[in-house]
Amino acid sequence: MIKVKNVTKIFNEGKPTQTLALKDISFDILEGESALLKGPSGSGKSTLLAIIAALLKPTSGDVDVDGQKIAKLPDNFASLYRRENLGFIFQKFNLIPTLSVEENVILPLIPSDLSKEEIEEKAKSAMSKFSIIHKKDDLAKNLSGGEQQRVAIARALVNDPKIILADEPTANLDSKLSKSFLEFVKILHDEGKTIVIATHDPIFFDLDFIDKEIEIIRGKMQ
Ligand SMILES: Nc1ncnc2c1ncn2[C@@H]1O[C@H](COP(=O)(O)OP(=O)(O)OP(=O)(O)O)[C@@H](O)[C@H]1O
Ligand SMILES: [Mg+2]
Repeated sequence: MIKVKNVTKIFNEGKPTQTLALKDISFDILEGESALLKGPSGSGKSTLLAIIAALLKPTSGDVDVDGQKIAKLPDNFASLYRRENLGFIFQKFNLIPTLSVEENVILPLIPSDLSKEEIEEKAKSAMSKFSIIHKKDDLAKNLSGGEQQRVAIARALVNDPKIILADEPTANLDSKLSKSFLEFVKILHDEGKTIVIATHDPIFFDLDFIDKEIEIIRGKMQ
Protein backbone atom coordinates (compact mmCIF):
# COMPACT_ATOMS: atom_id res chain seq x y z
CA MET A 1 0.00 0.00 0.00
CA ILE A 2 2.84 2.38 0.92
CA LYS A 3 6.26 1.88 -0.69
CA VAL A 4 9.04 4.22 0.36
CA LYS A 5 12.17 3.83 -1.79
CA ASN A 6 15.52 5.45 -1.04
CA VAL A 7 13.96 8.62 0.30
CA THR A 8 16.33 11.42 1.29
CA LYS A 9 15.22 14.83 2.52
CA ILE A 10 17.54 17.78 2.89
CA PHE A 11 16.08 21.04 4.22
CA ASN A 12 17.63 24.37 3.20
CA GLU A 13 19.99 22.73 0.76
CA GLY A 14 23.15 24.74 0.12
CA LYS A 15 22.47 27.16 2.99
CA PRO A 16 24.25 27.37 6.36
CA THR A 17 21.09 25.91 7.96
CA GLN A 18 21.17 22.82 5.71
CA THR A 19 19.72 19.79 7.56
CA LEU A 20 19.80 16.19 6.42
CA ALA A 21 16.45 15.09 7.88
CA LEU A 22 16.16 11.67 6.17
CA LYS A 23 18.83 9.57 4.57
CA ASP A 24 18.05 6.74 2.13
CA ILE A 25 14.92 5.43 3.84
CA SER A 26 13.19 2.38 2.31
CA PHE A 27 10.31 0.25 3.61
CA ASP A 28 6.94 -1.17 2.57
CA ILE A 29 3.71 -1.10 4.49
CA LEU A 30 1.18 -3.57 3.15
CA GLU A 31 -2.54 -2.95 2.84
CA GLY A 32 -4.17 -3.44 6.22
CA GLU A 33 -0.95 -3.22 8.20
CA SER A 34 -0.40 -0.96 11.18
CA ALA A 35 3.12 0.45 11.40
CA LEU A 36 4.98 2.54 13.94
CA LEU A 37 7.62 5.09 13.01
CA LYS A 38 9.63 5.45 16.16
CA GLY A 39 12.73 7.33 17.17
CA PRO A 40 13.86 10.22 19.36
CA SER A 41 12.87 13.85 18.88
CA GLY A 42 14.28 15.33 15.68
CA SER A 43 14.90 11.94 14.07
CA GLY A 44 12.73 12.69 11.03
CA LYS A 45 9.40 10.99 11.82
CA SER A 46 7.17 13.98 11.06
CA THR A 47 9.16 14.74 7.92
CA LEU A 48 8.61 11.19 6.68
CA LEU A 49 4.86 11.32 7.39
CA ALA A 50 4.62 14.66 5.56
CA ILE A 51 6.36 13.09 2.54
CA ILE A 52 3.92 10.12 2.57
CA ALA A 53 1.10 12.68 2.72
CA ALA A 54 2.56 14.58 -0.27
CA LEU A 55 2.79 17.68 1.92
CA LEU A 56 6.55 17.73 1.39
CA LYS A 57 8.57 16.55 -1.58
CA PRO A 58 11.60 14.35 -0.95
CA THR A 59 14.96 15.66 -2.19
CA SER A 60 15.42 12.26 -3.85
CA GLY A 61 13.72 8.86 -3.83
CA ASP A 62 10.23 7.58 -4.60
CA VAL A 63 7.03 7.07 -2.71
CA ASP A 64 4.20 4.91 -4.08
CA VAL A 65 0.86 4.88 -2.35
CA ASP A 66 -1.80 2.49 -3.61
CA GLY A 67 0.00 2.35 -6.96
CA GLN A 68 0.27 6.11 -7.33
CA LYS A 69 3.67 7.85 -7.47
CA ILE A 70 3.35 10.75 -5.10
CA ALA A 71 6.89 12.12 -4.62
CA LYS A 72 6.54 14.65 -7.42
CA LEU A 73 2.79 15.26 -7.55
CA PRO A 74 1.85 18.84 -8.45
CA ASP A 75 0.00 20.58 -5.59
CA ASN A 76 -3.53 20.27 -7.02
CA PHE A 77 -3.10 16.51 -7.53
CA ALA A 78 -1.52 16.21 -4.10
CA SER A 79 -4.58 17.67 -2.40
CA LEU A 80 -6.87 15.36 -4.40
CA TYR A 81 -4.68 12.40 -3.43
CA ARG A 82 -4.92 13.36 0.26
CA ARG A 83 -8.66 13.88 0.14
CA GLU A 84 -9.31 10.52 -1.52
CA ASN A 85 -6.90 8.37 0.47
CA LEU A 86 -5.77 9.84 3.76
CA GLY A 87 -6.89 10.81 7.18
CA PHE A 88 -4.31 12.56 9.33
CA ILE A 89 -3.83 13.39 12.92
CA PHE A 90 -1.08 15.97 13.33
CA GLN A 91 1.20 16.69 16.25
CA LYS A 92 0.04 20.31 16.20
CA PHE A 93 -3.66 19.51 15.56
CA ASN A 94 -3.97 22.05 12.70
CA LEU A 95 -7.51 22.95 13.73
CA ILE A 96 -9.00 26.21 12.52
CA PRO A 97 -9.21 28.17 15.79
CA THR A 98 -12.12 30.41 14.79
CA LEU A 99 -14.37 27.54 13.67
CA SER A 100 -16.47 25.40 16.00
CA VAL A 101 -15.64 21.79 16.82
CA GLU A 102 -18.34 20.54 14.45
CA GLU A 103 -17.19 22.84 11.63
CA ASN A 104 -13.63 21.58 12.03
CA VAL A 105 -14.74 17.92 11.96
CA ILE A 106 -16.83 18.52 8.84
CA LEU A 107 -13.98 20.12 6.84
CA PRO A 108 -12.81 16.96 5.00
CA LEU A 109 -16.40 16.28 3.83
CA ILE A 110 -17.03 19.67 2.27
CA PRO A 111 -15.67 18.81 -1.20
CA SER A 112 -17.83 15.63 -1.32
CA ASP A 113 -21.25 15.10 -2.91
CA LEU A 114 -22.89 14.22 0.41
CA SER A 115 -26.08 15.97 1.51
CA LYS A 116 -26.07 18.31 4.52
CA GLU A 117 -27.85 15.62 6.58
CA GLU A 118 -25.32 12.92 5.64
CA ILE A 119 -22.43 15.25 6.51
CA GLU A 120 -24.00 16.08 9.90
CA GLU A 121 -24.62 12.40 10.63
CA LYS A 122 -21.01 11.42 9.88
CA ALA A 123 -19.67 14.33 11.95
CA LYS A 124 -21.96 13.39 14.86
CA SER A 125 -20.80 9.81 14.81
CA ALA A 126 -17.09 10.79 14.71
CA MET A 127 -17.54 13.35 17.52
CA SER A 128 -19.37 10.79 19.69
CA LYS A 129 -16.65 8.17 19.19
CA PHE A 130 -14.04 10.58 20.52
CA SER A 131 -16.13 12.04 23.34
CA ILE A 132 -16.12 15.59 22.03
CA ILE A 133 -19.76 15.93 20.95
CA HIS A 134 -20.63 17.87 24.12
CA LYS A 135 -18.35 20.66 22.81
CA LYS A 136 -19.62 20.62 19.25
CA ASP A 137 -20.55 24.33 19.17
CA ASP A 138 -17.47 25.58 21.05
CA LEU A 139 -14.73 27.33 19.09
CA ALA A 140 -11.61 25.21 18.62
CA LYS A 141 -9.42 27.94 20.14
CA ASN A 142 -11.25 27.63 23.48
CA LEU A 143 -10.58 23.91 23.93
CA SER A 144 -7.96 22.26 26.11
CA GLY A 145 -5.05 20.45 24.41
CA GLY A 146 -6.63 17.03 24.94
CA GLU A 147 -9.98 18.22 23.58
CA GLN A 148 -8.30 19.70 20.51
CA GLN A 149 -6.56 16.40 19.95
CA ARG A 150 -9.90 14.54 20.06
CA VAL A 151 -11.35 16.96 17.49
CA ALA A 152 -8.30 16.30 15.30
CA ILE A 153 -8.89 12.55 15.58
CA ALA A 154 -12.60 12.87 14.79
CA ARG A 155 -11.76 15.02 11.76
CA ALA A 156 -9.18 12.52 10.49
CA LEU A 157 -11.68 9.68 10.57
CA VAL A 158 -14.85 11.42 9.40
CA ASN A 159 -13.96 10.73 5.78
CA ASP A 160 -13.54 6.98 6.28
CA PRO A 161 -10.05 7.03 4.68
CA LYS A 162 -8.23 3.80 3.79
CA ILE A 163 -4.92 5.15 5.14
CA ILE A 164 -4.56 6.88 8.48
CA LEU A 165 -1.38 8.84 9.29
CA ALA A 166 -0.94 9.93 12.88
CA ASP A 167 1.83 12.11 14.28
CA GLU A 168 2.24 11.73 18.06
CA PRO A 169 -1.50 11.09 18.41
CA THR A 170 -1.36 10.60 22.18
CA ALA A 171 0.95 13.54 22.94
CA ASN A 172 -1.82 15.55 24.59
CA LEU A 173 -4.12 12.79 25.81
CA ASP A 174 -4.26 11.55 29.39
CA SER A 175 -3.63 7.85 29.96
CA LYS A 176 -7.33 6.94 29.83
CA LEU A 177 -7.80 8.69 26.49
CA SER A 178 -4.52 7.29 25.17
CA LYS A 179 -5.85 3.81 25.92
CA SER A 180 -9.12 4.61 24.20
CA PHE A 181 -7.12 5.81 21.20
CA LEU A 182 -5.33 2.43 21.18
CA GLU A 183 -8.68 0.64 21.23
CA PHE A 184 -9.69 2.68 18.24
CA VAL A 185 -6.47 1.86 16.37
CA LYS A 186 -7.26 -1.80 17.00
CA ILE A 187 -10.78 -1.42 15.62
CA LEU A 188 -9.45 0.40 12.52
CA HIS A 189 -6.83 -2.31 12.09
CA ASP A 190 -9.53 -4.98 12.30
CA GLU A 191 -11.52 -3.03 9.67
CA GLY A 192 -8.54 -3.41 7.32
CA LYS A 193 -7.27 0.17 7.38
CA THR A 194 -3.59 0.88 6.76
CA ILE A 195 -2.23 2.89 9.68
CA VAL A 196 1.09 4.70 10.18
CA ILE A 197 1.79 6.19 13.60
CA ALA A 198 4.86 8.34 14.33
CA THR A 199 5.46 8.24 18.05
CA HIS A 200 7.85 7.86 20.92
CA ASP A 201 5.06 6.95 23.34
CA PRO A 202 5.94 3.48 24.72
CA ILE A 203 2.20 2.73 25.06
CA PHE A 204 2.39 1.72 21.36
CA PHE A 205 5.38 -0.59 21.63
CA ASP A 206 4.92 -4.37 21.25
CA LEU A 207 1.17 -4.35 20.75
CA ASP A 208 -0.23 -7.38 18.92
CA PHE A 209 -2.14 -5.20 16.42
CA ILE A 210 1.01 -3.28 15.41
CA ASP A 211 2.49 -5.25 12.51
CA LYS A 212 5.68 -3.29 11.91
CA GLU A 213 8.03 -1.04 13.86
CA ILE A 214 10.33 1.19 11.80
CA GLU A 215 12.99 2.90 13.86
CA ILE A 216 14.68 6.08 12.68
CA ILE A 217 17.55 7.75 14.45
CA ARG A 218 19.01 11.02 13.09
CA GLY A 219 17.33 10.41 9.74
CA LYS A 220 18.62 6.86 9.31
CA MET A 221 16.74 3.59 9.53
CA GLN A 222 18.04 1.28 12.21
N1 LIG B 1 10.69 22.88 7.50
C1 LIG B 1 11.88 22.58 8.00
N2 LIG B 1 12.96 23.34 7.72
C2 LIG B 1 14.17 23.03 8.20
N3 LIG B 1 14.43 21.97 8.99
C3 LIG B 1 13.41 21.18 9.31
C4 LIG B 1 12.07 21.44 8.84
N4 LIG B 1 11.25 20.47 9.33
C5 LIG B 1 12.05 19.66 10.07
N5 LIG B 1 13.33 20.07 10.05
C6 LIG B 1 14.47 19.40 10.72
O1 LIG B 1 14.49 18.05 10.31
C7 LIG B 1 14.81 17.18 11.40
C8 LIG B 1 13.70 16.15 11.60
O2 LIG B 1 12.55 16.82 12.11
P1 LIG B 1 11.17 16.07 12.37
O3 LIG B 1 10.19 17.10 12.77
O4 LIG B 1 10.85 15.23 11.19
O5 LIG B 1 11.55 15.13 13.61
P2 LIG B 1 10.61 14.22 14.53
O6 LIG B 1 11.21 12.86 14.56
O7 LIG B 1 9.20 14.32 14.06
O8 LIG B 1 10.76 14.89 15.96
P3 LIG B 1 9.70 14.99 17.18
O9 LIG B 1 9.68 13.65 17.85
O10 LIG B 1 10.29 16.06 18.07
O11 LIG B 1 8.38 15.39 16.61
C9 LIG B 1 15.05 18.09 12.60
O12 LIG B 1 16.42 18.33 12.71
C10 LIG B 1 14.31 19.36 12.22
O13 LIG B 1 14.89 20.48 12.83
MG1 LIG C 1 7.51 15.02 14.95
